Amino acid sequence: MIHETQAKTTGIETLSYDVGGGNVRSIYIGSNTLEALPKYAGGLKADKFFIISDTEVDGHLKERVKGILAGVAETHLLCFPAGESSKTLATLETVAAEALDAGATKSSVIVCLGGGVVGNLGGLLAALLFRGIRFFHVPTTMVAQIDSAIGIKQAVNYRKGKNLFGQYYAPEFVFIDFDTIRTLPERHIKAGLAESIKHGLCQDMEFFDYIGSHAPNYSWEVVDRIARRTIELKLELLKLDPLEGKLDPQLELGHTIGHALEIIVMGRFLHGEAIAIGMVVESRVSCAMGFMEEGLCRRIENIFRRVGLPTRVPDDVSADQIIEILKYDNKRKTAKNDFFLLEDFTRFHRTDGSIGTKVPEAVLREVVASCY
Ligand SMILES: NC(=O)c1ccc[n+]([C@@H]2O[C@H](COP(=O)([O-])OP(=O)(O)OC[C@H]3O[C@@H](n4cnc5c(N)ncnc54)[C@H](O)[C@@H]3O)[C@@H](O)[C@H]2O)c1
Repeated sequence: MIHETQAKTTGIETLSYDVGGGNVRSIYIGSNTLEALPKYAGGLKADKFFIISDTEVDGHLKERVKGILAGVAETHLLCFPAGESSKTLATLETVAAEALDAGATKSSVIVCLGGGVVGNLGGLLAALLFRGIRFFHVPTTMVAQIDSAIGIKQAVNYRKGKNLFGQYYAPEFVFIDFDTIRTLPERHIKAGLAESIKHGLCQDMEFFDYIGSHAPNYSWEVVDRIARRTIELKLELLKLDPLEGKLDPQLELGHTIGHALEIIVMGRFLHGEAIAIGMVVESRVSCAMGFMEEGLCRRIENIFRRVGLPTRVPDDVSADQIIEILKYDNKRKTAKNDFFLLEDFTRFHRTDGSIGTKVPEAVLREVVASCY
């Protein structure tokens, strides 16, 4: 259970990150700070703002942000049906048409107000409209605040593969108000914690233990502390690799299997839930290949269980389905998938110096069979 606490107003902290080519963007972080948005949005001199959001983002929040931005420039709110199944080229085209019909121009600015689906779709829309217009993120889920809005990867899904149509495209800035996630159901906070646990495993064992030590009861204060540390850890990776190409292992742990599950059971799992199962399956693969000790494998499964995240492959998903969908993994460089397998905290297995490991299909089938 998340303990309720009073909304706390904080100052705004500015972090920055390199988006490639020596360009730097700011991330403004605080709590109960939405009223300060015009200070940053005003600098863009937009003719119009187009807020892209979905039907489930808190209605009061959408109206509040619309009202705040309307004080700066004409503001439109465009909402598509919530959920992963909306993250498609078809939705993108519908939203683009609505923006164009409402008078979008090259000087307009897109505002992504919502979770990772809104951020990824709105970011790609900004990249494509008029061959690129400006946008910024106001992320309102934990996953979006700590992960999807931090970086420059924008994409939508193909029905057989996650994030297959996309672009690297940087926002003007990211405005994170931790207070905006207070209306999120607890399940969504837990899904966010899965990404934080991933960073703990790959970069900071103490952080992993810190998250585990508070399970399953997280106060907002602890959630904010975890979110803040996760952003810091992600920025450490982006500093080394703005396009997230070489650092896929750290960011994509559990995502090969997790993305396949998300596609197969479309909409049943939140992203964070699917990658929690993905991390369990992939650590078991690492054990089966003799790279990871059984004890760590159990520790990984235990933390997800204690947090209250799923750890089992659903009964109605077969190894055949997973293997079929893996063919559409967007990290694939050859005919066979590369798995990023942890040996220990912060250490990935390498084959001939390379961090990707080809996993025999028989091993994968055996591991999946042990994960029901
Ligand atoms: N690097 C990246 O680009 C990256 C990283 C992580 C995740 N992702 C993507 O992000 C997506 C998952 O993001 P998500 O977990 O935020 O899911 P989501 O965007 O579907 O949001 C989850 C739900 O929360 C609702 N919601 C959002 N804000 C709310 C609020 N303030 N109050 C109440 N409800 C609210 C949404 O309407 C939605 O129903 C996936 O598509 C995933 O692939 C991308």
